Amino acid sequence: MSTTDNILITGGAGFLGPILAAKLVREPNNRVVLSDLRAPPLPKGLTDPARCTCVAADLTKSADIDRLLAAAPSWRAVFLLHGVMSVGCEENPALSQLVNIDATRSLLTAITKLENGGRKPRIIYASTQAVYGPPYTTGGTITDDTPATPIGVYGTHKLITELYVNDMNRRGLIDAFSARLPTVTVRPGVPSRSAAAFLSGMVREPMAGQECIIPLSDRSARQMICSPRIMIDNLARLITIPSDAMPSHIRSIYMPGISVTLGEMYEAFEAVCGSDKLKYLRVEKDAEAERLLNSWPQTADFGNARRIGLAFDDDCKQIFREYVDSLRQEKINGYHVS
Ligand SMILES: NC(=O)c1ccc[n+]([C@@H]2O[C@H](COP(=O)([O-])OP(=O)(O)OC[C@H]3O[C@@H](n4cnc5c(N)ncnc54)[C@H](O)[C@@H]3O)[C@@H](O)[C@H]2O)c1
Repeated sequence: MSTTDNILITGGAGFLGPILAAKLVREPNNRVVLSDLRAPPLPKGLTDPARCTCVAADLTKSADIDRLLAAAPSWRAVFLLHGVMSVGCEENPALSQLVNIDATRSLLTAITKLENGGRKPRIIYASTQAVYGPPYTTGGTITDDTPATPIGVYGTHKLITELYVNDMNRRGLIDAFSARLPTVTVRPGVPSRSAAAFLSGMVREPMAGQECIIPLSDRSARQMICSPRIMIDNLARLITIPSDAMPSHIRSIYMPGISVTLGEMYEAFEAVCGSDKLKYLRVEKDAEAERLLNSWPQTADFGNARRIGLAFDDDCKQIFREYVDSLRQEKINGYHVS
């Protein structure tokens, strides 16, 4: 007898939510509820649009949380993708506190009260590599044992929520992992409120005949990036990773990224987009963006991610090429769902 696996995705009008929904709906048993402040549009290209429902819910309101969780009789998995991004958090720490900490905690607490057919849903919390910071990010390779030392509001608030996740998981209240995402690029649409926005803009804008400002001039500066395809594959895999793959009080996994220099990004850009488009890239240093970018990881060994079998991108060219190819293909929020 086939059963239905209901999967909730918050932040579903953002970048990753619709692509994740499209991936999950390909499994015939899955039914996805995609939720955001306003009901997200139905993602394009779904194999079965009837198995995706789009719901409005402001997660800072407990009545909205209760209504959202009542949208299915039980949940197989819950992806917590809602959030305020890095620049937005520095500008408005109170909003970050409300959304990145308080709303997430309220939602986690509400999930613990669900009967849910006697089974805990797998919770996947989208955290960030911005939980890492100096001196570890500037002084060497990030390992599973590297302490989290964020120097921004965003990373600090995400880390606070990770600690809630760890403790609630240890106490047997939830079954969760926190996924520390590197910068996922190339992001279609408009720039995010992230210090790393240019990592997508440097391909997206020139391909649309527009200028992109690069806030760094040092071509040896490294960033950790990942393609949407690999990130979505890996997030989906976290639904079925056995709970005991990690200790009950350590639930954070640094998700696979590849370390690339700004110089390598320029080379990949030229190879994939063409040297005629270099004229759209203009360097204009931004001290605050540079401070945040330089505080994030530059190299990592991804021990936990490798141990549990997550996938990696090949190189920067492949990542840029997938975006450029997607412009010619059927699109989901600008991306072909692979
Ligand atoms: N995309 C990346 O490169 C990246 C990197 C590191 C971490 N992350 C994390 O992964 C998650 C998903 O990333 P994304 O790029 O899809 O994010 P996004 O910014 O595109 O989407 C976040 C969504 O959260 C929603 N949201 C904000 N406040 C809300 C509230 N009160 N109630 C309900 N929804 C609310 C927003 O409306 C938005 O649509 C985020 O939590 C982000 O912090 C992403």
